[in-house]
Amino acid sequence: MTQVQGPASPVGPADGGATGSAGGDGVRTPPTYVWEPTTEFLAASYGLPREAIVRFDVNTSPVPPDMAAVLAGPFFPVLSEYPPSDYAALVAAGAAAYGVAPEELLPTAGADEALDLSARAFLREGATAVVATPTYAMYRIVSEQRGARVVGVPRLGPSLGFALDVPALAAAVSEHDARLVWLCEPNNPTGSYEPPERIGRLLAALEAAAVAARSTPPVVVVDEAYAEFVGHSTLELRHDYPRLVVIRTLSKAHALAGVRVGFAVARHETLAPIVSFRAPASVGTVSAALAEAALRNPRLAAENVARIAEQRDRMSRELAALGWAPYPSRTNFILVRFSSPAAAAAAAETLLRRGLVPRQFDGDHPFADCLRLTVRSDEENTRLLDVAREIPA
Ligand SMILES: Cc1ncc(COP(=O)(O)O)c(C=O)c1O
Repeated sequence: MTQVQGPASPVGPADGGATGSAGGDGVRTPPTYVWEPTTEFLAASYGLPREAIVRFDVNTSPVPPDMAAVLAGPFFPVLSEYPPSDYAALVAAGAAAYGVAPEELLPTAGADEALDLSARAFLREGATAVVATPTYAMYRIVSEQRGARVVGVPRLGPSLGFALDVPALAAAVSEHDARLVWLCEPNNPTGSYEPPERIGRLLAALEAAAVAARSTPPVVVVDEAYAEFVGHSTLELRHDYPRLVVIRTLSKAHALAGVRVGFAVARHETLAPIVSFRAPASVGTVSAALAEAALRNPRLAAENVARIAEQRDRMSRELAALGWAPYPSRTNFILVRFSSPAAAAAAAETLLRRGLVPRQFDGDHPFADCLRLTVRSDEENTRLLDVAREIPA
């Protein structure tokens, strides 16, 4: 039997040896590994029970090691085999949770893998990526790793809620013929949130500029790692702007950072080049099962979000009462400004001496005079607030 495309890589190219252009950006899709058919697919194809299928094709071991029986519990029997190449159950759960079609969703090893794959798919050496700054560092890193140039467009100031500078972003895209725009909504590290309507305005401006220039609009990647904390998504905008890629993760609201599961979500034709770059089965069996269960139980994330929102508001209130200057946050972290970078560093040192680890920013970062504090449990936050009382604002 020849290799067939597993049903769960519905967006992958059918010919593993083929190369092709990815979306008119001059990026060639690489030869892509065609995944082995899933056990479920083979059982269905040959009219056999699933248990009758024995994998002599993928060079695995017949049973997992003994120690895994203790560590992996119910996952033990499946550990010596690869996960189903289509991740059908995880894809179905993700599609239902995000309200998209299964072929619009690619499971990845965390949001970070989805960011890396997006850069691989849409940036070539010498291309330009535009990024709204200050923001998550990975956009610059994965772009520069591909040999692309990164043009930062500063967000508006704190009095304007660190909103996107939509005209400046559109102008930067036109000026540099940018092929990729990175947005983080809600934004790390500001904790601010941009309503989807304003992102829609940016997408419309990019589309109009591309039509006028007779070119293809850039891919816009919106990293929605913290979307559940605001309860809004830009996903619907993909209907009007086909080159939108939305990144989601189980690491934040779902409280499963150790599981390493995220998604790239986009229209089928936009997702296809991203799929081509992913190594087969980058999400482990245990991770896929845990992520699927979490997505099937949205109440768990909702409860976590509510708990964190309550603690976040408490932290912001109590820090402000101490004379600290927390910026408003819609996420699970708070950016706090100090009188100077030295004051921020001194506060960090006091916290660190007590085992409490804040996020600091380098001297040349626009937030060098800030610390970013994750909202944690009631007791842990109380520990932080107790130490904060000893620190001058
Ligand atoms: C904006 C943003 N995107 C992505 C990530 C990484 O997410 P993941 O754990 O899913 O790789 C983070 C983690 O802090 C983040 O802040």
